[in-house]
Amino acid sequence: MDQQIKDLINKEEKRQKELVHLIPSENFVSEEVAMVLGSCLTNKYAEGYPGKRYYQGNEFIDEVESLAIERGKKIFGVEHLNVQPYSGSPANSAIQMALLERGDKICGLKLSAGGHLTHGHPKITFSGKFFESVQYDVEEDGRIDYDKLEQLVLQEKPKMIMAGTTAYPYVLDFKRFGEIADKVGAWLVADVSHIIGLIVGEVHPSPTPYVHLIMSTTHKSLRGPRGAFIGITKKGLEKSKELFGDELEIAKKIDRAVFPGLQGGPHENNIAAMAVCFAEADTQEFKDYAAQIVKNAKILADTLRNNGLKVFGTENHLMVVDVGLERGKEIAIKLEQNGIVVNANTIPHEQGSPFKPSGIRLGTPAMTTRGWKEKEFEELGNRMAKIINSN
Ligand SMILES: Cc1ncc(COP(=O)(O)O)c(C=O)c1O
Repeated sequence: MDQQIKDLINKEEKRQKELVHLIPSENFVSEEVAMVLGSCLTNKYAEGYPGKRYYQGNEFIDEVESLAIERGKKIFGVEHLNVQPYSGSPANSAIQMALLERGDKICGLKLSAGGHLTHGHPKITFSGKFFESVQYDVEEDGRIDYDKLEQLVLQEKPKMIMAGTTAYPYVLDFKRFGEIADKVGAWLVADVSHIIGLIVGEVHPSPTPYVHLIMSTTHKSLRGPRGAFIGITKKGLEKSKELFGDELEIAKKIDRAVFPGLQGGPHENNIAAMAVCFAEADTQEFKDYAAQIVKNAKILADTLRNNGLKVFGTENHLMVVDVGLERGKEIAIKLEQNGIVVNANTIPHEQGSPFKPSGIRLGTPAMTTRGWKEKEFEELGNRMAKIINSN
């Protein structure tokens, strides 16, 4: 094997094994998922969809992708599923490309409030450059004020609302999002990339009854390979019938936007690994894992708070800790020097900047996979507080 790469992989493996990992979007896949990712499926080109490929030789690949779709539809409760997006950002771009025209209004949570770049972050992103973006914020306590969101939506009448977050430590009220979107006839997309494992594990309410589309990455709390999916709900099919006269038109639009709109050949090794991950998530063991993620997050937040720190959250797998004006990066470096890996993050109503934020973001999915429970997280919280509070 290439010695330079082998050495680097060995070093990274040691780093992953020896340190404490609290970046909420990271996790450790099972040996089976890792093995499938490295399989011969990576060698095959399969542009198109099962049964409609541009190249020959896709007999087994079709079965792989169909299996991923069937397993995914079952655990996410959706009517149509596309498992080809290379990752979360391309999946959101595909949804927007499929259902919006250039210049249409899109409404998402501000990046500084815990939203994602792909939800209309102005100027520098696809969603912010090609669409007119109106963004909502959180309150001083870090929570979304749904009455204010409703006012904004009634005033601006966006064509699409993105309901999803990357650093929001509270349960999302998808029912309320649904009622608000319906008042102006907007498409409602639940981006559950962060909380999908909690939804499948039944410790966070599912958006399925209230939204038209669900998208998610598969590599965060779901503990699968890097990748993403786009699911269409019953409500999505109904809206498609109402708007286009055909309930399946929405599925055609999404599939066409993914391929050939934005992507070429699907990564079938990733799709096979998704199928494995979906089966792993469809077990009692995974439900227990999801419940433990939330318990662990709660004890970590309580312990930090008991040590005098200001913590936003938590009702899910993550929290944001206020570590002092513009000190996020400095504290993240200090924690890493002590073997604890976190990321610097803005806090609600940040007075610093995204480059010099005042908080750190912590999550429990990865260390829960490693078998950590309340006792370990309480000890960790006390240790972290000492490091954060020193000088
Ligand atoms: C809510 C949300 N959506 C989309 C993405 C984008 O996913 P990716 O990094 O796979 O493009 C992320 C990633 O952090 C996310 O948190």
